[in-house]
Amino acid sequence: MKRILDHKDLLGLQQTSKNDIELILDTADMMRHILNSPTKKTAHLAGKSVVLFFLENSTRTRLSFEMACKNLGANSSNISGAGSSIYKGENLYDTVKTIDAMSTDLLVMRHCQSGAPHLIAPLISASVINGGDGMNEHPTQALLDMLTIREYKGKIAGLRVAIVGDVLHSRVVRSNIWGLSKMGAEVRVAAPPTMMPRHLDQLPCIVCSNVRQACEGADVLMGLRVQLERQKSALFPSIREYAHFFGIDEKVLDCAKTDAIIMHPGPCNHGVEMPTSIHEHERSVVHCQVTNGVAIRMALLYLLQARRNDQ
Ligand code: NCD
Repeated sequence: MKRILDHKDLLGLQQTSKNDIELILDTADMMRHILNSPTKKTAHLAGKSVVLFFLENSTRTRLSFEMACKNLGANSSNISGAGSSIYKGENLYDTVKTIDAMSTDLLVMRHCQSGAPHLIAPLISASVINGGDGMNEHPTQALLDMLTIREYKGKIAGLRVAIVGDVLHSRVVRSNIWGLSKMGAEVRVAAPPTMMPRHLDQLPCIVCSNVRQACEGADVLMGLRVQLERQKSALFPSIREYAHFFGIDEKVLDCAKTDAIIMHPGPCNHGVEMPTSIHEHERSVVHCQVTNGVAIRMALLYLLQARRNDQ
């Protein structure tokens, strides 16, 4: 039986079922074969228009979506804040209605306000993919993280995943908590008390008071970037102290399982979330995460378009 995604849009993993997550991961595995072929190309999205609308900086997410579009034969166009009518004061509604009126099939959107893609998606006919909304969710990052975990560990269910860092500002951690818990993993999180939101204990995760407690016996260690651009006041005394108490170093690695893998969504502040020696450690999979980002985004574009064709 042909498997189709439940929703027109991918807004977050809170709303995405385990079945759909599995479908996306399985499709991404197929996309990996295409990426490993000599031409890297298919024509599945030939003639389709994808708009990449990024109102916050991005290297990995934007570039991998752009490559994913090209690999599937879609036409991709970029729009950002600078250089667009947003700088003339045009509001978000008018901007996305304009994008939609140009027969756009898929809209990838990154916005500094939590919930912006959820507001827009019901108003337009294009399928919306959330490329990161404020401090809320970053579903495609968590999906590529899960694809990487599955690649290295052969499964997700039953694993212990420790996520350490600036939990308060991280949309990556929220998507990973939803996604990994639906897939049967145990998620443990640790952050300085000033970077741990109070509501987090209502999410399906174990809130730990220190890094050791989170990382003890873990199969996966994931560092989160300290997001200075979102901090309104200093949340820790010094970088040195942060790195000492909340960085992933050799001592932290020693309390995890001997085959634990090291992850980071990037960009990494070397020497803060982890030293370069851990970022480039033989058990680090950070570069594989980036590679898998292209496969996940190809899978999503393909599946959302397949759903549109089916309607
Ligand atoms: C993440 C983001 O933008 O939320 N980056 C990414 O997409 N790889 C994490 C971050 O910026 O720290």
